[in-house]
Amino acid sequence: MCKTQCLLAAISLTIGLVNAWDIAITTGDQLEFYSNQTKINSEGMRFRDLTALAYDAVHNMLLFVDRQNDNASIFSYHLATKKYQSLVRRRSFENIQGLAFDPVMSLLFWTDTNERSIFWISLKPGSKNELYGNLLIKMDDEMPRAIAVDSCRGYIYWTNTNITKPSIERARFDGTDRKVVVNTDLFMPVSIAVDQRTKRLYWADDKEGIHYSIESSNLDGNDRKTVLSGTYHQPNTLTISKDSVYWVDWGFRSVWKLAKDASADVEPFELLKFSNEVPFGIVANYDISDQIEGSNDCAALQRLSQNKSAINDTFNIPRDIGLFCLHGVKLDGKLECKCSPGYTGERCEVSVCYNFCFQGDCTLSSEGQPMCRCQNGFSGIRCELDACKGYCLNNGVCSRSRQNPTCQCGTDYEGSRCETLKVYTTTNTSVPVTSVKEHCKYVYKCS
Ligand SMILES: *[C@@H]1O[C@H](CO)[C@@H](O)[C@H](O)[C@H]1NC(C)=O
Ligand SMILES: *[C@@H]1O[C@H](CO)[C@@H](O)[C@H](O)[C@H]1NC(C)=O
Ligand SMILES: *[C@@H]1O[C@H](CO)[C@@H](O)[C@H](O)[C@H]1NC(C)=O
Ligand SMILES: *[C@@H]1O[C@H](CO)[C@@H](O)[C@H](O)[C@H]1NC(C)=O
Ligand SMILES: *[C@@H]1O[C@H](CO)[C@@H](O)[C@H](O)[C@H]1NC(C)=O
Ligand SMILES: *[C@@H]1O[C@H](CO)[C@@H](O)[C@H](O)[C@H]1NC(C)=O
Repeated sequence: MCKTQCLLAAISLTIGLVNAWDIAITTGDQLEFYSNQTKINSEGMRFRDLTALAYDAVHNMLLFVDRQNDNASIFSYHLATKKYQSLVRRRSFENIQGLAFDPVMSLLFWTDTNERSIFWISLKPGSKNELYGNLLIKMDDEMPRAIAVDSCRGYIYWTNTNITKPSIERARFDGTDRKVVVNTDLFMPVSIAVDQRTKRLYWADDKEGIHYSIESSNLDGNDRKTVLSGTYHQPNTLTISKDSVYWVDWGFRSVWKLAKDASADVEPFELLKFSNEVPFGIVANYDISDQIEGSNDCAALQRLSQNKSAINDTFNIPRDIGLFCLHGVKLDGKLECKCSPGYTGERCEVSVCYNFCFQGDCTLSSEGQPMCRCQNGFSGIRCELDACKGYCLNNGVCSRSRQNPTCQCGTDYEGSRCETLKVYTTTNTSVPVTSVKEHCKYVYKCS
């Protein structure tokens, strides 16, 4: 066991190349950097389960969440020095969905969907923070999810995904002046970004059923535009670069890219496709100078892009929590988890349902055993048996649209499995018998 040392070593080995990246992504235990669809670093950083991600272009620092670290929940990673720091102590049942950093005031904000709260810490040298973060806003009915900062005007924006009254809201950095900016035609706004270059908000809405949309408005929520609306994507996080919008999609396990000013008929480009892991967070490498080019109302960021004022993210997170059990309890006095029924793994992080059913949905029996409910046309304990396999003869096409398979036969065959060669009449009407029967009702005298 050499977690911290190995971690530092792994980081310094792998991210030496990182300077020309376009986007960074958290997926599984990896923080990945891409340039032109090519992954620049290919080694893990020995984390476990990386989720929310934010980028601070002033200090060239990434901020991310590891959902399964024993000691801390939020970490920083400095691209220049290749150092990481743990910033916030892990509670135990937090669910941090959104992270955002304001480089002007050196404030880090995050949403906790379980606590229904927004928290913050200051990375200003000499500042005092609670180990678990300082509470900013506690909500009742709302489910805060994504968060973004407007560093030029000093606001946080967040999305509320309570689907009975979803909204996009904003407040000052101290939580005052809270205001709903969008609350119509929303279903589940899962992500949000503030773009200084266009002075607009961008968000992804995971609409009802198979639908989704990427939308934008000005910073007050007015002048709303649909950048794209479509089906089958399940958007999670979204980010903005100088020219494009990128989003992580759980439907296709992909990252999509679309020009900010794309016209309505332009299809998004599938930039990356993941096979095993599911991507979670995404940030674009968006220079401050590009962000504020041509705008005269952001002196604060302008100054910062020239003078990177110091931040101090050296926090002493106590390392005394020990093993963290995701779906289970820690055994008294031991670094060992006792898993709840249906979970296995060192930290009870693996569901027994994981990859169990081939063609069906998995549920747990009362003993915690996986059980499959198979899709039409599949059977077997793991829905591994395909009823269509070898069912239709003579090149018939098999369909699973009903519980039992059905065949669509070629012109010369019939029968439930296309097993019978059609017989043509001796009088040569060049129509099959079955049709002749139909036909002779009107024309022939049928024998
Ligand atoms: C990325 O691809 C574009 C077009 O194929 C090319 O012009 C550009 O130089 C590439 N950038 C890098 C960093 O490879
Ligand atoms: C969503 O909001 C409604 C209306 O305010 C409230 O009754 C409900 O409890 C909320 N749902 C959740 C999951 O918080
Ligand atoms: C950079 O900013 C810091 C803090 O605002 C200030 O103390 C320092 O003088 C500035 N340095 C330069 C070169 O402007
Ligand atoms: C950063 O903060 C830590 C803890 O508050 C403190 O021990 C350390 O001296 C600070 N470092 C700098 C360079 O200010
Ligand atoms: C968490 O703290 C323990 C000590 O309690 C330490 O052994 C372990 O390396 C730490 N884990 C990480 C990932 O830093
Ligand atoms: C059947 O009749 C069609 C014309 O109606 C003819 O082209 C075909 O050769 C005939 N087939 C046989 C087997 O007699």
